[in-house]
Amino acid sequence: MTNPKAPQEFDPREIITIDGPAASGKSTLAQRLAEALGYLYFDTGVMYRALTWLALQQGISVEDEETLTALAEKVPIEVTPPSKRDGRAYDVWIGDQDITWAIRHPQVDAYVSIVSSYPGVRRAMSLQQRRIGLRGKVVMVGRDIGTVVLPEAGIKIYLDASPEERARRRFKEMQARGEHVEYEEVLQSMRERDRIDSTRTVAPLRPAADAIRIDSNDKDIEQVLELVLHIVHSQKRENL
Ligand code: DC
Repeated sequence: MTNPKAPQEFDPREIITIDGPAASGKSTLAQRLAEALGYLYFDTGVMYRALTWLALQQGISVEDEETLTALAEKVPIEVTPPSKRDGRAYDVWIGDQDITWAIRHPQVDAYVSIVSSYPGVRRAMSLQQRRIGLRGKVVMVGRDIGTVVLPEAGIKIYLDASPEERARRRFKEMQARGEHVEYEEVLQSMRERDRIDSTRTVAPLRPAADAIRIDSNDKDIEQVLELVLHIVHSQKRENL
């Protein structure tokens, strides 16, 4: 991958990466952390979801790697501040279509891991993510941000929880949105995504060697946030 170089004045401590499996609490943590620090919150999963949604919409098979790669290189995905107060943290647009909630549909959940396993798709998405990350003052969330997209980040968190706990959290979110799903179905889909995300050949889900690993099984968001803020502030003090 031809990575854009980091600018001269680049401060790695102002780039925070949060990786981990689905529903480990990454997005909520990143959003709260970004708010507390006055940083940009960027959830990279949104880009893979938007591409998957568009493919389903256009009747492109998720097996068609070549067409999906070409689509990834030109799809105009926009992530902008929230335009509605309906629980969203940002808007996601493709052209003039607001797809913020559409990309959370179970059908997108079912196919997004396959779409995001293609090297060409990842290259196109990672380049855009890296450009945004190198501007600094960012909390970027995903699976490969600390390992591949922004390996020079100063603070890398790997947030984990058991599949059962993550499925419970996702199930509750879906119920709250009025979706009719079974817990077992959510758990099975979670396990399948974990398997694909962590066994793909390009940028598999795994903690970076220098990541701080946090298990959120027995911690609520406030406790995890407090822990990470402590890490961020002590890093700043150490490096003064
Ligand atoms: O975080 P999420 O559930 O919205 O991510 C959706 C999918 O996108 C997930 O199955 C894996 C993929 N993804 C990825 O491969 N790399 C990223 N940096 C972010 C997400």
